[in-house]
Amino acid sequence: MNDTSISSVHNPLPSAGPLETVQVLRDVIGPMVAKGPIIRRPTMVAASERLDLDGRAVSRMQTLSDKYGRGPLMLNIPGRPVALILDPGDVHRVLEGSPEPFAAEETLKRHALKHFEPKTALISDGTERAQRRRLNEKTLDHDHPVHHMAASFMPVVEQETELLLEQVQAAGGALEYKSFYDAWFRIVRRVVLGDSARTDTPLTDLMESLRRDGNWAFFKPVATRGRSALLDEIQNALDRAEPGSLAAFMTQQPQGSEAQPAQQIPQWLFAFDPAGMATFRALALLAAHPDSLRAATRESRKVGQTEEGEKPTPATPLLRSTVLESLRLWPTTPMILRETTTDVRFTHGVMPAGTSVLVFTPFFHRDDRHLDFAHRFAPELWERPRTRQDWPLVPFSAGPGLCPGRHLVLLLASKIMAELLSQATLHLDSHSLDPEKLPGLLNNFSLRFRLS
Ligand code: HEM
Repeated sequence: MNDTSISSVHNPLPSAGPLETVQVLRDVIGPMVAKGPIIRRPTMVAASERLDLDGRAVSRMQTLSDKYGRGPLMLNIPGRPVALILDPGDVHRVLEGSPEPFAAEETLKRHALKHFEPKTALISDGTERAQRRRLNEKTLDHDHPVHHMAASFMPVVEQETELLLEQVQAAGGALEYKSFYDAWFRIVRRVVLGDSARTDTPLTDLMESLRRDGNWAFFKPVATRGRSALLDEIQNALDRAEPGSLAAFMTQQPQGSEAQPAQQIPQWLFAFDPAGMATFRALALLAAHPDSLRAATRESRKVGQTEEGEKPTPATPLLRSTVLESLRLWPTTPMILRETTTDVRFTHGVMPAGTSVLVFTPFFHRDDRHLDFAHRFAPELWERPRTRQDWPLVPFSAGPGLCPGRHLVLLLASKIMAELLSQATLHLDSHSLDPEKLPGLLNNFSLRFRLS
């Protein structure tokens, strides 16, 4: 750094001591990495739920924020500048300030995602990022609550839920995560790649295997053969362009020379996994709140009443808000990562270029020093769009890096919930949830419902 740089003439940001840094690694970063940032490890998720590690992570952040105020707080990690965001205003600032000076293409993220999508928008920059992001936005119809192809997607959800309900009935009414997940991924493969991929579980298995490598980021070499096989299969789906699939819709979008369509789709297949988790947890939220369950069931029955020939526009505000609440309470992307492209000035000092910036969302979603709804189900939070004037509740991120798949997730999630609720009564068998103090983590893998 030369001596005219901002850092040399301004104070550095406050820095955590070595012990505090170890506490952050132990309580905040460690458990998140152990659970699996790219694909969850069920045993670690179970341990986290049992030991309330997620609650402990939020408490650790609160202790730091009580001591250091607005921050950001630099961690004392040799060889790599890392900063924790502590101030709600800074969450907005960092997320709005992407890609300059807070690039979405962060080093650790790049190493994790390169295992299955080295050219995805999220870890690209410049023209490449612009073209790839635009292709994602167009294909996922990111500005519209109801995707233009919803009329093709809705029957897929209906058919697969029907089959799921038959399986549940055969299992004496028990709905477990495994059967939900299998149904969800039949939907995902049909919606993304086309009906012929319906039973292509080997593809989902391959994705899972590459994502397991992704959990190890740079500690594991890339399985280049597996990655090529995945991308080839996706390219085949684009070539087939089956009517009614997102792959077909993608081929109709304007694409620049750097858009790399096949490399954008693994991110969708990956991200539909947490979407399924969030949906299953959303069902648990409803089961634990009988009034909301009744209202959601009424809402679900209305969704089914579409006139023949009418475009389905599922008006399911409560179901959508419930999924958003599931994601607020138990964010599936708990750490949003950015990297500074230049020195950045904050009120209390300067953050150097090349710093990994960590936005730990559970801290902002569950900060009971400021939020009376921190640990309870509050679907009313989502009745109007949230702005940067509001407290940051950012399960889908915000600003130019906002998740372009959010509306599609809410559409498909609320539709499968509506199908289940309109045809069955739901009881949560596996957990007893206290509506006044919802847990720091809800283990989706062990959730079990009884449907009658
Ligand atoms: C519960 C489900 C989901 C959640 C919570 C979620 C959340 C997020 C978040 C927080 C980001 C920003 C990540 C970052 O900045 O590092 C993101 C990015 C992204 N998401 Fe999602 N997502 C979900 C599902 C989906 C689905 C199903 C799709 C596609 C069908 C999708 C497509 C994308 C894409 C393409 C990006 C990268 C955007 C960019 O490069 O700017 N997401 N998502």
